[in-house]
Amino acid sequence: MVQQVAKESVGTKGNHKRTTIFTYTHTKRTGFRFILYAEGKDIEEDIRSLQLDSAEENNGVVNPGDARPEEVEVVDKMEEDSEEVQAVSQPVHPEPKVKHKEVSAVEDAESQQETEGNNKRHLNVVFIGHVDAGKSTTGGQILFLSGQVDDRTIQKYEKEAKDKSRESWYMAYIMDTNEEERIKGKTVEVGRAHFETETTRFTILDAPGHKSYVPNMISGASQADIGVLVISARKGEFETGFEKGGQTREHVMLAKTLGVTKLLLVVNKMDDHTVNWSKERYDEIESKMTPFLKASGYNVKKDVQFLPISGLMGLNMKTRVDKSLCPWWNGPCLFEALDRIEITPRDPNGPFRMPIIDKFKDMGTVVMGKVESGSVREGDSLLVMPNKAQVKVLAIYCDDNRVRHAGPGENLRIRLSGIEEEDILSGFVLSSVAKPVAAVTEFIAQLQILELLDNAIFTAGYKAVLHIHAVVEECEIVELLHQIDLKTKKPMKKKVLFVKNGAIVVCRIQVNNSICTEKFADFAQLGRFTLRTEGKTVAVGKVTELPTVSSSA
Ligand code: GTP
Ligand code: MG
Repeated sequence: MVQQVAKESVGTKGNHKRTTIFTYTHTKRTGFRFILYAEGKDIEEDIRSLQLDSAEENNGVVNPGDARPEEVEVVDKMEEDSEEVQAVSQPVHPEPKVKHKEVSAVEDAESQQETEGNNKRHLNVVFIGHVDAGKSTTGGQILFLSGQVDDRTIQKYEKEAKDKSRESWYMAYIMDTNEEERIKGKTVEVGRAHFETETTRFTILDAPGHKSYVPNMISGASQADIGVLVISARKGEFETGFEKGGQTREHVMLAKTLGVTKLLLVVNKMDDHTVNWSKERYDEIESKMTPFLKASGYNVKKDVQFLPISGLMGLNMKTRVDKSLCPWWNGPCLFEALDRIEITPRDPNGPFRMPIIDKFKDMGTVVMGKVESGSVREGDSLLVMPNKAQVKVLAIYCDDNRVRHAGPGENLRIRLSGIEEEDILSGFVLSSVAKPVAAVTEFIAQLQILELLDNAIFTAGYKAVLHIHAVVEECEIVELLHQIDLKTKKPMKKKVLFVKNGAIVVCRIQVNNSICTEKFADFAQLGRFTLRTEGKTVAVGKVTELPTVSSSA
């Protein structure tokens, strides 16, 4: 049995990202063991540079200047023969040792057959919501309930959490794999893990709730098809998350913009003594969230399902909650609800597009990402855009297994020949040769201004950080073209020089380096974006026009 929790994070400036992968491996010889390896920068130093505490004091502002350029990939080793789970984040060294282990597992012929025979659909589900709502606890509980983490490991985490005076955090430790996260009790990097239900293979993306790490949340949500919005029902906690500036609001708005089309809204901590499975509290949260979700663009009847759970106790998750505890609930449990979610089928025959979220060296160059359009086969010739590098697909890995082909929506690792790892940046797109993705330094977009810092005005010359699929790049608004009338949704005739909060405006945006994008109308996932300044989301937008002669031509 192999279970991985991979961690991802992104800086606030420039195209750099890091993935750390924790593998829980069950072997006959050693029992349960824990593997840590990392690709990217020095984890501990990087987490320190995110300055959780100082960011809190500083109103959550992360200085974009703190970000550093990408450095070499790094790998760490684990105690192989120990029966104990090694849960300590260790210093990382540039040595590709453990990666080979993972690759040798995935190259196993047996696992290849298994995957080819596994016709279950695949969904990426991001866990979002305010800090401490219980996202990691619920994600960890899912892995436990689906039999991927054993009792011994839980006991070990209970002890570790107790030693850190964080008794109740032991379930979250399954997802919060690095030491800093465990000490602070807060997710920093997106945790990635897999589980299966009767009908579906799920990839869980456990986003951080803290406002300092919204860029990481954006990266997680941009890879997801559906979202689990975790809301704490505990007295005072729902209120804090829902108030202005709370991440419940920001995450919902970002999720919608980033293409998370369906939401399961789990009202968590129903076991808490301030809640006690109260129908009144549940109804209160549902009635307050509903108008907000509608205003954020969700069709609440069709696209949102509410349900009560206790992530910590594992109640109403794999099986329905006992009537003696919650007599008023007649709906599904979380696993059932996840199983039933339907999303619009994707076109496997469209032009191939896979934004690269990470890369590393491993018997060639391996890139990671989610297929947003089309399909890929071993032996295919593709382009890495925007640098138009011709590459060949040597091998495809889906979850932990090698596969010969994969369709849209899959999270893949693809081994390529024809390109060096250092010539790829996250945000590059693996693309079909016949119809390559557009690569531009300028585009026209429709923006909705949310909240400008200090009520600043939005005008030509405004600079922000653009987040579009896996791209994080500084941009400048070079021209405001016209404002959209909020009532008629039509362009206003009057020339516009500046706009304020709440306005919708069409403008021309420039970036310094060529980025891959598409018109929202053609490829929604590659054409929707957010603009952030000093750690706050100031606008959401969609690409409406690309230069007629783009470098893809
Ligand atoms: P961030 O990663 O920091 O955004 O937090 P999170 O949403 O991942 O929350 P986490 O899972 O770390 O849990 C935060 C605290 O809430 C921990 O003390 C958990 O034990 C507690 N908690 C989570 N779920 C439940 C629950 O169902 N019931 C109770 N009583 N406590 C819970
Ligand atoms: Mg968490």
